[in-house]
Amino acid sequence: MKTITLGKTGPVVSTIGLGCMGMSGMYGPADRAESIATLHAALDAGITLLDTGDFYGMGHNEMLIAEALKERRREDVLLSVKFGALRGPDGIWSGYDCRPAAIRNFLAYSLQRLGTDHIDIYRPSRLDPAVPIEETIGALADLVKAGYIRHIGLSEVGSETIRRAAAVHPIVDLQIEYSLISRGIEDDILPTCRALGIAITAYGVLSRGLISGHWQKGATTGGDFRTLSPRFQDGNVDRNLALVEALRRVAEEKGATVAQLAIAWVAAQGADILPLVGARRRDRLAEALGAQQVVLTEADLAAIEAAVPKDAAAGERYPAAALAHMDSEKRA
Ligand SMILES: NC(=O)c1ccc[n+]([C@@H]2O[C@H](COP(=O)([O-])OP(=O)(O)OC[C@H]3O[C@@H](n4cnc5c(N)ncnc54)[C@H](OP(=O)(O)O)[C@@H]3O)[C@@H](O)[C@H]2O)c1
Repeated sequence: MKTITLGKTGPVVSTIGLGCMGMSGMYGPADRAESIATLHAALDAGITLLDTGDFYGMGHNEMLIAEALKERRREDVLLSVKFGALRGPDGIWSGYDCRPAAIRNFLAYSLQRLGTDHIDIYRPSRLDPAVPIEETIGALADLVKAGYIRHIGLSEVGSETIRRAAAVHPIVDLQIEYSLISRGIEDDILPTCRALGIAITAYGVLSRGLISGHWQKGATTGGDFRTLSPRFQDGNVDRNLALVEALRRVAEEKGATVAQLAIAWVAAQGADILPLVGARRRDRLAEALGAQQVVLTEADLAAIEAAVPKDAAAGERYPAAALAHMDSEKRA
């Protein structure tokens, strides 16, 4: 497994990270034993970056990770944790809270659930519109000084917020959706991060399974994020799966799978872009890891671009209500 330094000031991390969200119900029921086995397989393969959020299964995801890490050395793992999203006992999302007092509270609970005394990269999951980003980052900077967190990251924010945050404290990475069919960061956000030495940890590189090559129309179950996602809705899903078939033809010529090509494409966009894969089964993880052996030439990149042109996806990447909360989607 290759490694990179995350951003100008960040830790050394494996060039692929494991996102653990799907192990806590976001994509329908997950198998607990298989989730833990997948976490172990990822660590054994050299993945050092595990991403979670305190709101993934309302603490379930952090406790699952803690269980998986019981027999492992804490220093071999980098924990990236998001905070700030508010949910009710019914799981319903009800906004964000990134006030300094709330952050200290979220962190205390996360440390306890994760069974650790520090978090490696801690980040607000979204901008809280009621709290200036300087206040949020200032509070995080105090927690760095106190040793509870090592680095500060951001998630789904736009250029202005990124610049304001970086003026308060070094930011190591921006976690944001980036894939062959979600290329919104290319014009403005990516250049801003590059100018400031902030890495991108790209999520949704398989567009939540849609461009994995395994997705079949109608495969969602109740409670699965994908039942609400515009790209999975009737009409849109057929157009998006047609793009996948075009990609499959390129993948077959390359001797790779569709998922491997999609992951390799993200990795090929720059050494400062690290794909977070959302595998929750060992077979999916093994496939994703195979992307490291897929070296894309200029001709391959052109063939991929021809199969899936920029902006070819049908449907937005989130439902309208979620997009409205996203600073990264604000248009000037
Ligand atoms: N900052 C944010 O706002 C934000 C938002 C979303 C996610 N994230 C983070 O990013 C991580 C990754 O996001 P994501 O889960 O949406 O990403 P993804 O990798 O695009 O989608 C993951 C889904 O793709 C399917 N899949 C099929 N083949 C696969 C393969 N070979 N390898 C991996 N997955 C395969 C799996 O579904 P099946 O298991 O159903 O086959 C899996 O649940 C999350 O776990 C989370 O930590 C962050």
